[in-house]
Amino acid sequence: MNYITLNNGVKMPQLGYGVYQVTKDECERCVADALTMGYRLIDTAQSYFNEEEVGAAIAKSGIPREEIFLTTKVWIEHYGYDACRASVLESMRKLQVDYLDLCLLHQPFGDAYGAYRALEDLYDEGKIRAIGISNFYTDRMIDIASFSRIKPQINQVEIHPHNQQIEGKTWHDKYGIQMEAWAPFGEGRGDMFDLPELKAIGAKYGKTVAQVILRWHLQRGIVIIPKSTHIERMEENFKVFDFELTEEDMTAIAALDKKQSSFFSHTDPNMVEWFVKMVEQRKKQHDSSKEKKNW
Ligand SMILES: NC(=O)c1ccc[n+]([C@@H]2O[C@H](COP(=O)([O-])OP(=O)(O)OC[C@H]3O[C@@H](n4cnc5c(N)ncnc54)[C@H](OP(=O)(O)O)[C@@H]3O)[C@@H](O)[C@H]2O)c1
Repeated sequence: MNYITLNNGVKMPQLGYGVYQVTKDECERCVADALTMGYRLIDTAQSYFNEEEVGAAIAKSGIPREEIFLTTKVWIEHYGYDACRASVLESMRKLQVDYLDLCLLHQPFGDAYGAYRALEDLYDEGKIRAIGISNFYTDRMIDIASFSRIKPQINQVEIHPHNQQIEGKTWHDKYGIQMEAWAPFGEGRGDMFDLPELKAIGAKYGKTVAQVILRWHLQRGIVIIPKSTHIERMEENFKVFDFELTEEDMTAIAALDKKQSSFFSHTDPNMVEWFVKMVEQRKKQHDSSKEKKNW
């Protein structure tokens, strides 16, 4: 395993396991499989609704807490100082831990600054070892890094061969903020697992397209958290430390960059409205279930 040292001296594994879209039913088994396979970085989020299952798998694994690097993310409806603080403590309860290794603000909307102040205070109290942001594009990253007491340690954004964030990475390096890739395979969109250029590179080393992509991320110095519910793929994705891409391979992969999201842009007004509506809907649901409880 490679380790990355963050700007506060904390070390984290460069390869981990992500549980977005892993259902509650499957999640405990999947995290248990990933831990058995050797993964020690687990990435979840409040909005994945599987923190309890992640916590159960870790608790049952018997692996010492300090050997596991555990990340969660705060969702927008828990932004603002007080709500963020309370939600992080609730996440820790669900995860059955008394500290988090990394806690990120999931999206750059709403009272992210109030929420970030809560993360800073929890960091000071030793409840979170590293704090950061996610989906903050470079402009927002510079803003929060410049006007906060504690510079984020991590920014988790979409990075894969079709959206390489080459310019963004230069800026993150300048500010000492580690980039972490979500959707390191672009979730397979754009025929990612069938690209002939990647197949040709893999054939030289007896490696799969998935392994070539992960190796490319590692050699760029990016932290990766590929997701799979299949144990054989978890194993495949873990076996990426026994070969090296040449400069020629790296250049060939650089040529695949489309410099745009395979999903959506966080600066698209329609998408911002979509997030706002989602928060409003969830708030309504929450309020009506609270009312029902009071009856
Ligand atoms: N911060 C954010 O906003 C954000 C957004 C998205 C994701 N994330 C994080 O990033 C993690 C990874 O992203 P992601 O899950 O969206 O996408 P991803 O890791 O790029 O791709 C996952 C997809 O690839 C398939 N796959 C995995 N390994 C494979 C292999 N070796 N060969 C062929 N197919 C393979 C999986 O299928 P099977 O499961 O069927 O094997 C799944 O359909 C998430 O789990 C989450 O922790 C964060």
